[in-house]
Amino acid sequence: MLQQDRSVTAYVDVEEMLSKHFAVLGSTGVGKSSGVSLLLNEILMVRPNLRIFLLDVHNEYGRGFGEKALVLNPRNLKLPFWLFNFEEIVDVLFAGRPGVAEELEILAEVIPIAKGIYTQYQNADRIGLKRIDPKSIGYTVDTPVPYRLVDLISLIDERMGKLENRSSRIQYHKLLSRIDAVKNDPRYTFMFDNANVGGDTMAEVISHLFRLPANGKPMTIMQLAGFPAEVVDSVVSVLCRMAFDFGLWSDGASPLLFVCEEAHRYASADRNIGFGPTRKAVSRIAKEGRKYGVYLGLVTQRPAELDATIISQCNTLFAMRLANDRDQALLRSAVSDAAANLLSFVPSLGTREVLAFGEGVALPTRLRFKEVPQYQLPRSESAISTMPSVAAGHDMNFVSAVLERWRGATSSRDVPNDPGFTERPIAPPQPRMADAPMLQPSLGLDPDRFSLLKRPLR
Ligand SMILES: Nc1ncnc2c1ncn2[C@@H]1O[C@H](COP(=O)(O)OP(=O)(O)OP(=O)(O)O)[C@@H](O)[C@H]1O
Ligand SMILES: [Mg+2]
Repeated sequence: MLQQDRSVTAYVDVEEMLSKHFAVLGSTGVGKSSGVSLLLNEILMVRPNLRIFLLDVHNEYGRGFGEKALVLNPRNLKLPFWLFNFEEIVDVLFAGRPGVAEELEILAEVIPIAKGIYTQYQNADRIGLKRIDPKSIGYTVDTPVPYRLVDLISLIDERMGKLENRSSRIQYHKLLSRIDAVKNDPRYTFMFDNANVGGDTMAEVISHLFRLPANGKPMTIMQLAGFPAEVVDSVVSVLCRMAFDFGLWSDGASPLLFVCEEAHRYASADRNIGFGPTRKAVSRIAKEGRKYGVYLGLVTQRPAELDATIISQCNTLFAMRLANDRDQALLRSAVSDAAANLLSFVPSLGTREVLAFGEGVALPTRLRFKEVPQYQLPRSESAISTMPSVAAGHDMNFVSAVLERWRGATSSRDVPNDPGFTERPIAPPQPRMADAPMLQPSLGLDPDRFSLLKRPLR
């Protein structure tokens, strides 16, 4: 028999939950984002040394964390183009379509040399070293050091000039005009600002993005909705890769929780969907992040479309209502047999109701997320913090602001060819999560502040 007692408070053990990754799964409107807002606000209170990086796909979290969060968007983000690795910059130059082999070959040759030339300048400035051959410095296309667009362009020009055959110059011309197009596109200012004079700002970029030092804002909300649609994937890839690499090279000195809404978009079960490097970056964190203090919080409406090997790395699952059979099957494959009998509730859970499994809870538990105050609810007040308040009336300024975002996100330099997306069957079931361990002491969590209503079964 089922008994539910709303007066019993349920706890989530933040320390255990953040000893690895977690996921929030549920159909649209069941309260995932509100639950994430609740969880992250609680985490900020009990883990002041943790940094949180939230990929805000729909620009809905801007106001939910008050002074504690830095809100970034295409207008105030600085993500220099040279931080993009080869696949990422190719994705930008070719607007999300596969690159042309001949052009890629040219780029792969000149980028490392342009990096070498930049380093040469630096050395010449600083210690007056004699010029060394830029090729001998040993940079690869992916080494994260700066280069200047002017150098890249003149290297390409130089090579083109040496060609006798006119027809073989075409590829060089095309490549140059691609570079020119993105560089002059105002929507790409966040990457190409100071493309020819900028110094080595990598340390500044990383310390700003990942809040080191926090300066009172241990959290970053990265609003993705205003970015040109064709570069969002590469931007996410760069951010995710840098989050992991910084953890790796600092040996986990600064723990970071990387939260990703709409995770199925970035790490799809279908390898033909989405951008390969982004999936690679997310799965790298899923597999190795824990060792380096980088943890994932994945949120998705479509768990069956999320790479199952990534879900299998999540130690705590918050399952909300899921109507679709494939999603339920995925969930069944991810939890222990002991917990599986709870899953019959999954299609009938109400808004805010959760089945929690794994290390963050003592036992598989049915609970209800605490009421989130209005100001912390995603999309409360105006949906986008940079937009005039909707409450102020739907005037022309409001409409213009909507149009600006709309055009910014949907315009493209040219019409994409065939995106080549195909549907493939669901990925095979993945290894099961370990049985939930006993609850650890609650680490000073104030029950009133973290009262998730528990509904014990039987
Ligand atoms: N914990 C909560 N406290 C108060 N209200 C909530 C809570 N959870 C959900 N709601 C209500 O339900 C609405 C939908 O919730 P939410 O936006 O979190 O759903 P979602 O699962 O993120 O949906 P989507 O998949 O479309 O993003 C909220 O706008 C809010 O009104
Ligand atoms: Mg949501």
